[in-house]
Amino acid sequence: MSTIDFEKFSQYSKPGPRYTSYPTALEFNQDFKYDTYIDFLENSQEKISLYIHLPFCRSACYFCGCNVVFTSKEEKLSRYIEYLKKEIDILAKHLDTSREVIQFHFGGGTPTFYKAFELDEIVTYVKSKFTNWSSDAEISCEIDPRFFNEEQMKVFAKHGFNRISFGVQDLDEKVQKEIHRIQPLQLTKNAVELARRYGINSINTDFIYGLPYQSLESFKKTLELSTQLNPDRVAVFNYAHVPWMMKTMRKFDETTLPTPEVKLQIFKYTIDFFESHGYKMVGMDHFAKPEDELFSAIEKGELHRNFQGYTTKGGANLIGIGLTSIGEGERYYAQNTKDMKQYEEALDAGRLPFDRGVVLSDDDFLRKAVIMELMANFSIDIKRVEAEHGIDFGVYFADAIEALRAFERAGLLSISESKITVTLTGTLLIRNIAMPFDAYMKKYAQSKKAFSKTV
Ligand SMILES: C[S@@+](CC[C@H](N)C(=O)[O-])C[C@H]1O[C@@H](n2cnc3c(N)ncnc32)[C@H](O)[C@@H]1O
Ligand code: SF4
Repeated sequence: MSTIDFEKFSQYSKPGPRYTSYPTALEFNQDFKYDTYIDFLENSQEKISLYIHLPFCRSACYFCGCNVVFTSKEEKLSRYIEYLKKEIDILAKHLDTSREVIQFHFGGGTPTFYKAFELDEIVTYVKSKFTNWSSDAEISCEIDPRFFNEEQMKVFAKHGFNRISFGVQDLDEKVQKEIHRIQPLQLTKNAVELARRYGINSINTDFIYGLPYQSLESFKKTLELSTQLNPDRVAVFNYAHVPWMMKTMRKFDETTLPTPEVKLQIFKYTIDFFESHGYKMVGMDHFAKPEDELFSAIEKGELHRNFQGYTTKGGANLIGIGLTSIGEGERYYAQNTKDMKQYEEALDAGRLPFDRGVVLSDDDFLRKAVIMELMANFSIDIKRVEAEHGIDFGVYFADAIEALRAFERAGLLSISESKITVTLTGTLLIRNIAMPFDAYMKKYAQSKKAFSKTV
């Protein structure tokens, strides 16, 4: 792989979206009204992807950017289950629950903060309402290996879970101490082995680069050790440092964070490391073994990115359940409230805890398709976009193409009549390459507070 002249490209390191979000700066707002959301739910006939957010954690990992509620109170956890059931009941009134469920995901927080019987209770309830599950549905859970036992695994096996994602982050002791997350390799190994014993053959591990005290040398060791886990997929997230939004991040001494230059070195090394260990890069932050279904999806141009990461199950109607959950339809995004009191009050009043979202205009819809394709497949099939959206690409995106010329001259992509193709080096700056297509980015680039940096 050719080397990057970081100085030359630092000009492109403008603020970028948070690590898991929809890749444009499209803003959720309150103009999207409750009744419109209900109309979307009632009129949709797409297949369903269910996301259930279980927000509780015992103690804070200081880097964490997720929507989390810290507690050790058992009654808070069981009370939340009762409210999840209320939410599922109301949803079931507003959508056709015989639509096929092709994906189910428990996210957090720490879903396995719940005891086995409670997890069983939640999944059983969901299945009693949503009755039509595809035989090859992807059923998955995010797991913190520090909170995971065999009883829980038995429940997952009973309900046909087939994918587990383990949070690892970093294996260096000093980094673990600083991020307030002590997690010895052996503990993670035990968790992975437990999952494999119960037939889970798609195991993902999450790592983060950009954490305090990380260096190229320390991360090399982390990667070397990670091979002992033999994951099927690996996510290596760029640390999103947003201390103005997340208080715990203020605990970090910012001088201990690796510089953008070191982060680029780490990520470049990571790409080479996984490629030499039999993995292939998928999208901007994932690696997977070549037999993984993500690869055939790339070949067919069917790889998608949603709020949980990369998936082959695109085009489904994502229904978000639980505090802060985000749902997605072809023409909208909808988010539940972040406030537990409001969450409960809405449900007690017989309403969904919908708080805000956005309805996509034709222009948003087109730009979303183009940006998603870039992020997922590192290319844009110009002819296909023209056929699907009835536009002349060169005319519609004249400004964006002009902006991309600088990337082209730098060898980060090539532009032909029918295709834009990002080079391997260009993949490192994919967010920046996508920005000219983002109608909202200019506005947001000026509001430093909204985002973390892209590199
Ligand atoms: C919602 S967390 C849940 C996982 C589970 N609670 C655990 O910690 O193992 C999912 C993943 O998001 C990633 N993550 C959390 N905060 C992040 C941040 N500020 N920047 C980048 N990635 C982050 C971590 O890799 C984490 O494993
Ligand atoms: S990283 Fe996971 S365990 Fe740590 S605070 Fe965030 S959600 Fe909880």
